[in-house]
Amino acid sequence: MSFIPYDRPVRVAIIGLGRIYDLNVRAYLGNPDAEVVALVDPSQERRAQRQADWPGAATFESAAQLAASGIAVDAAEVLLPIPLHADAVVEMLGWGWHVNLQKPMCNDLADAQRMLDAAKASGRVLRVMENYLFYEPLRRLKAVVESGEIGEVAGYHMRMVGTGNGGWEVPWSSFEWQIEQMRRGRGILVFDDGWHKLSTALWLFGPVREVRAWIGTTSFGHGIDLDAPTVIAWEHDGGVRGSWDITLAPDMYLRSDYYTNDERWEVTGTRGFARVNRCTARGIQEPSLEVYADGVMRGYHALDDDWASSFRDSGRHWTGWLRSGAGPLLWSGQEAADVLRFALAAYASSASGGAGVSPREIL
Ligand SMILES: NC(=O)c1ccc[n+]([C@@H]2O[C@H](COP(=O)([O-])OP(=O)(O)OC[C@H]3O[C@@H](n4cnc5c(N)ncnc54)[C@H](O)[C@@H]3O)[C@@H](O)[C@H]2O)c1
Repeated sequence: MSFIPYDRPVRVAIIGLGRIYDLNVRAYLGNPDAEVVALVDPSQERRAQRQADWPGAATFESAAQLAASGIAVDAAEVLLPIPLHADAVVEMLGWGWHVNLQKPMCNDLADAQRMLDAAKASGRVLRVMENYLFYEPLRRLKAVVESGEIGEVAGYHMRMVGTGNGGWEVPWSSFEWQIEQMRRGRGILVFDDGWHKLSTALWLFGPVREVRAWIGTTSFGHGIDLDAPTVIAWEHDGGVRGSWDITLAPDMYLRSDYYTNDERWEVTGTRGFARVNRCTARGIQEPSLEVYADGVMRGYHALDDDWASSFRDSGRHWTGWLRSGAGPLLWSGQEAADVLRFALAAYASSASGGAGVSPREIL
């Protein structure tokens, strides 16, 4: 791929103006590297609501209408329901737009390959955004681990409790396509939220050679089957073992400005540990990162631990990348396909009763 950085602000179209627009938009507000030229959503109500942020942007019911309008677009910010990702992205790459896609990339490897092929054929860049890699407490956790402060890495675990009360309102329409996903075996906890957790594992410790999983189901009726209790464990090529467990606490209240997940990342070293205490919700009201070594606990009290800031910084990384072409994409389309392979290995393991599965065997 020969990519020539832009010597002017990048012209951006935002495609899909639903719930997560509220956070992705933070990357573009006041961003000198980007100019939002178009907004696309079939919902008139959403178009009208979002146009207040971008009075100068043209609005369209579909991306095809925008493409036919003659308005020049360099890059699309794609915030669509997962089942639409593959077809929409292939189409947009074909129109010559670079694409910054919300995760998860898509449901299966055949679709991922179609997207990668379309990017190659068009010479455009496909990025699959991963905002967790821009969450300051996690970035600091990575730096602490790499500094050797807690010794050699001995193990790694993540924990999530999905709670049912608190947080922002999620419209039923945002949930409907998630139910469709559940029916396809791509649940909201393991696949949608899990995409972030598996991404952080790859980002922290590199490729994974074996995954073992036990994925459960809790049914709430009306097709709402949540994919917990679940435990997934894995071993990285470098020998580090990690695990992630998901528990449901449907009646638990958790204070949050966003979703109500109680999340934890903990890396244990031979001399101490480093632990991120929260992310999306304001569960534990302690410093978002704590580091223990040699009998001393240090708390990081001044990190930007507002989850929304990770969306701002991820998006700005993208527009900055388009202006410079420098550094990693976090994630490239190929790296995102590796996250998908990791998730699919977990499903394959669970289906076989917990046998070890290599993501590399997933074709
Ligand atoms: N990074 C994160 O932490 C995070 C959090 C939540 C959601 N997401 C991801 O963001 C994506 C969107 O999720 P959401 O919760 O905002 O969904 P949503 O249902 O709230 O919003 C999707 C929007 O797309 C619109 N839309 C539907 N078909 C369209 C089309 N053909 N063209 C243009 N617009 C169309 C809908 O009208 C809606 O406004 C999903 O991939 C989801 O997994 C990521």
